[in-house]
Amino acid sequence: MLYSTKRNEFRELLLFECLFLLAVMVSCSPPEEPVKCSSKNSNCTITNSYGTFADRAVCRAGNVAYPTTEQELVSIVSAATKAKRKMKVVTRFSHSIPKLVCPDGQDGLLISTKYLNHVVKIDAAAMTFTVESGVTLRQLIQEAAKAGLALPYAPYWWGLTIGGLLGTGAHGSSLWGKGSAVNDYVIEMRIVSPAGPEEGYAKVRVLTDRDKDLDAAKVSLGVLGVISQVTFKLQPLFKRSITYVTKDDTDLGDEAITFGKMHEFADIFWYPSQRKAVYRIDDRVSSNASGNGLYDFTPFRSTPSLALALVRSTEETQESLRDADGKCLSANLLTSTLQMGAYGLTNNGIIFTGYPVIGFHDRLQSSGTCLDSLDDSVINACAWDPRIKGEFFQQTTFSIGLSVVKSFIEDVQTLVALEPKAFCGLELYNGILMRYVKASSAYLGKQEDAIDFDITYYRSKDPMAPRLYQDILDEIEQIGLLKYGALPHWGKNRNLAFDGVIKKYKNAGKFLKVKNMYDPSGLFSSEWTDQILGLTNEVTTLKEGCALEGLCICSQDIHCAPSQGYLCRPGKIFQNASVCTLVNPK
Ligand SMILES: Cc1cc2nc3c(=O)[nH]c(=O)nc-3n(C[C@H](O)[C@H](O)[C@H](O)COP(=O)(O)OP(=O)(O)OC[C@H]3O[C@@H](n4cnc5c(N)ncnc54)[C@H](O)[C@@H]3O)c2cc1C
Ligand SMILES: *[C@@H]1O[C@H](CO)[C@@H](O)[C@H](O)[C@H]1NC(C)=O
Ligand SMILES: *[C@@H]1O[C@H](CO)[C@@H](O)[C@H](O)[C@H]1NC(C)=O
Ligand SMILES: *[C@@H]1O[C@H](CO)[C@@H](O)[C@H](O)[C@H]1NC(C)=O
Repeated sequence: MLYSTKRNEFRELLLFECLFLLAVMVSCSPPEEPVKCSSKNSNCTITNSYGTFADRAVCRAGNVAYPTTEQELVSIVSAATKAKRKMKVVTRFSHSIPKLVCPDGQDGLLISTKYLNHVVKIDAAAMTFTVESGVTLRQLIQEAAKAGLALPYAPYWWGLTIGGLLGTGAHGSSLWGKGSAVNDYVIEMRIVSPAGPEEGYAKVRVLTDRDKDLDAAKVSLGVLGVISQVTFKLQPLFKRSITYVTKDDTDLGDEAITFGKMHEFADIFWYPSQRKAVYRIDDRVSSNASGNGLYDFTPFRSTPSLALALVRSTEETQESLRDADGKCLSANLLTSTLQMGAYGLTNNGIIFTGYPVIGFHDRLQSSGTCLDSLDDSVINACAWDPRIKGEFFQQTTFSIGLSVVKSFIEDVQTLVALEPKAFCGLELYNGILMRYVKASSAYLGKQEDAIDFDITYYRSKDPMAPRLYQDILDEIEQIGLLKYGALPHWGKNRNLAFDGVIKKYKNAGKFLKVKNMYDPSGLFSSEWTDQILGLTNEVTTLKEGCALEGLCICSQDIHCAPSQGYLCRPGKIFQNASVCTLVNPK
């Protein structure tokens, strides 16, 4: 992610400017709407927060509806069911990279949860918290804290909605308690699904933790209907103490497992080229421990678009010149700057004076101040905002069972030894984020205790352009998925990660049974969800250049970029991998 040394001063200046502008009645507003319609709420296109899906699909819909109550939601689903229309739920920001949100065809109906964004009920004594599904993670954390409650583990980014993060099994990092997936803290859910004429074409189901169906609905990919409300079991608000410690990564394979068991909120940034790992020592402490720390993660802050454009241009040049050394230099600068700035931690909300940073959980667990960027993002934005020239990346994110994760880490280290500079590209996006997840009772949730690897790297604006060291990162992707049976995050990844994915879920059959019961005509399904659920043809299609952006695993040179010297070759250490390799570089 982006960082520049001048940035803090710049930010202060911009903040000042923003406040000044506010004073003269120009508003500060968050990222763009993902749905755009040519006439009022009809003839629409839908995209995600990056402006591009994994396969660059252009998605259309006949119209979009904005229910404000469950009652309105029911009548919308009912009318569309009666008309046999395809439906999909769209959220305020639409953060998933795969095209989960696209209805098939041109005339589908988008149902937005933008105005289903209220807290319904807080029961402080029972520690339960009920929200509408369009409530964002930021709202949930802040509202719960006001009632003295906390969701113990959550994704690190404020911008996700409850419906969307449950839909894709999103998580934070922990091997403690029920683990880090938010879905494992759901105790009740209301979901609106299609029904027959005798039931008025739509029906609300109330699922409690005594219903087995809840295990289907709590990670549903959006194919069971519209989640209207969710009730979580929370905990009393507590304090945490965070210290980042940088170490040599030689024994990471062993360390990673014991570290996760030792610290409740442990995670690791891994910088393979630098042979370093940054361990986050993060535990609960007594509420009377002093400190009012704040985590405003640097890469999730608003960034001047001029700085973003400069960083992007630099990387584009490094790619076109195949300047690996340049990338390594930039990566070192970025990671050391982040480290010096404690990744955005402060001891009191203003400055960082040293570890440990102690503070209340709600101020440390997630962030995303770039959501409050200046209107139109001309000056300040989230780094990936598609309206400006900024970050544009691929994300390979999967979890590998604890029983085999050491071998995976060692395989990566073997590749590092062969091609050390190949990993500088991902260090430019702050390295590999390693987080802990636990086996879940959700049918489409994690199958075993595991470490989730989050790998972010350059994506060209040109889908036919090969990437620097494409072969090495693609080999790691295939080592994870094929050799160690990794489970891809449902809301991230390139298409190939989902090929045959459903075979990795032992309760997939139970999930499909519930889907057949809730939505027998598949009105909430699309070709994409049918493919990933194994109900139709495979996800990948073989065509010219398909392996360059992970739309396929290459089997012939034409799937790579032969005119630019990239040919389909076996992996360097995993023979079963097939990757686009630069043969005879000039
Ligand atoms: C900056 C950033 C940081 C991230 N950090 C993390 C992280 O720390 N951990 C993590 O696990 N993931 C993370 N993610 C990925 C994220 O969790 C997923 O992409 C998530 O699904 C997106 O949530 P959303 O609200 O944007 O949902 P969307 O992408 O809009 O929707 C996801 C799916 O859920 C369905 N859906 C949404 N609402 C409902 C509803 N009410 N009823 C039925 N179906 C519904 C949609 O139709 C779609 O199929 C991050 C993403 C970004 C951009
Ligand atoms: C729908 O929008 C597209 C552009 O997005 C436009 O070309 C087309 O004419 C519109 N159709 C109708 C019926 O409004
Ligand atoms: C903090 O609270 C604990 C009990 O929760 C108590 O034992 C301890 O003495 C307190 N410490 C201070 C410094 O007040
Ligand atoms: C490699 O491929 C062969 C032949 O397809 C297969 O039998 C073997 O199980 C694969 N090995 C791994 C580790 O995937």
